This record gives sequence, C-alpha cells and structure tokens, in this order.
Amino acid sequence: MITIDSASLVGKGLHRECYTHPDDVNLCIKVAINENVKETKREKKYYEFLKNKQIPWDMLPRFYGNIETNIGQGAVFDMIRDHDGSVAKTLEYYLVSDVETEKNCGGLSESFPLLKNYLLDHEIITMTIKPKNILYQRLSDEHGKLVIVDNIGNSDFFPIANYSKCFGRKKILRKWRRFEAALLSSYPDSKVLAPIRPH
Ligand SMILES: Nc1ncnc2c1ncn2[C@@H]1O[C@H](COP(=O)(O)OP(=O)(O)OP(=O)(O)O)[C@@H](O)[C@H]1O
Ligand SMILES: [Mg+2]
Repeated sequence: MITIDSASLVGKGLHRECYTHPDDVNLCIKVAINENVKETKREKKYYEFLKNKQIPWDMLPRFYGNIETNIGQGAVFDMIRDHDGSVAKTLEYYLVSDVETEKNCGGLSESFPLLKNYLLDHEIITMTIKPKNILYQRLSDEHGKLVIVDNIGNSDFFPIANYSKCFGRKKILRKWRRFEAALLSSYPDSKVLAPIRPH
C-alpha cells in the first residue's frame, strides 16, 4: 500500500485530489473525495479503450491503473510538468491572470488548434471541456501545449460516437464549439482568444 503525504497535494477539483506519487515525481495519484465510483470506472474504461486504439499520449496523461493508498483507492497518471520541472498549471490560471496571459500569449494561442486537431485525428471524445480541466504545459519560454486531465470519454447510454467516425467527429466538434463559446463569454477581452473571436 502506498502512503500519501498530504503535503504532496498538487491540485484539487470537486471530486478528486491530485498528489505527487511518493516514488516517482513524474506520476500523480488521484484519489476520489466523495466516492464517485461510477465516474472513476467510466474513466478507466475509456482509458482502456484509448490504449487499445494505440493513440499517442501527446495531450492526455497516460493512465497506469489503480492502486491502494492510505486514503483510499487512487488512480495513477503521468504528472504533467513544465520544462522547468514545476507542475503545469491550468488554462484557467493563465486566462484569469493578465500577467500570465501577456507572458504566454503566443504559446497559448497556437496551442488551441493543436489540441482540437489532436482530438479529431484520434477520435478522442470528451464531455464538457473546461479550462480548469486543461493544463497548459510550458515546453519552453515561448511554446507549450494543452493537456486534458479530466472529463474525457462519453457518458451517453449508447456511446455510438466512440465507434462511428462520423458521429465521433460531430460530437468532438460540438464540444469544441461549446468550449470556445464558454471561453469567449468568460474571458471576453482575453488576447489569447483573438484567433477564435468572431469579428
Ligand atoms: N495529470 C496531472 N498532472 C498535473 N496536475 C494534475 C493532473 N491531473 C489533475 N491535476 C491537477 O489536479 C486538479 C484536479 O484534478 P481533476 O480535474 O482530475 O479533479 P476533479 O475533482 O475530477 O475535477 P472536477 O472538479 O472538474 O470534476 C486539476 O485541476 C489540476 O490542477
Ligand atoms: Mg477537474
């Protein structure tokens, strides 16, 4: 059993806490806060589906399975880190800060179409895409990429979009359009969003 130190917490959402793995700083362990077994199982299943499809793990952390910890069952993933070793911060973090937006504007703007194409090329289905569930991984001072850490997969009762290229594509584009619309409404003046803002 793995013992998690509460000081190794790197992030927290409504359902899970994310800790640095005590044996490997390039891995993280996510532990459910309020027993959301169904959601955890669904995510695991979708990750297995992607593994079988042999997608490249460029913009998704790889999943390494579940382990027992002193605070409950945990799921092990790649820890997303910037080029300087610090844990990558969320897209939300960059968008709410004028200073961070200014510093990373070019890298952030160019990373959006890359993520969209990655999802389309490998038919990766997402649920609602939110800026708190995407990390901006700084690969250098000027460049970076977006990595989705939460809400992937399909919660439809009949997940046709997972198996049909046409339905899959439609779903991905629909989620992406909603993501862009939500960003434009939350950050109407952000420079980063200039390429997607209608004129
Ligand atoms: N692979 C990762 N590498 C680095 N940090 C991560 C990783 N996964 C998650 N985090 C951090 O932990 C936070 C919480 O993780 P996650 O979004 O999976 O939790 P959640 O409770 O399911 O979220 P939500 O509230 O959206 O349901 C993220 O916002 C992010 O800051
Ligand atoms: Mg989240």
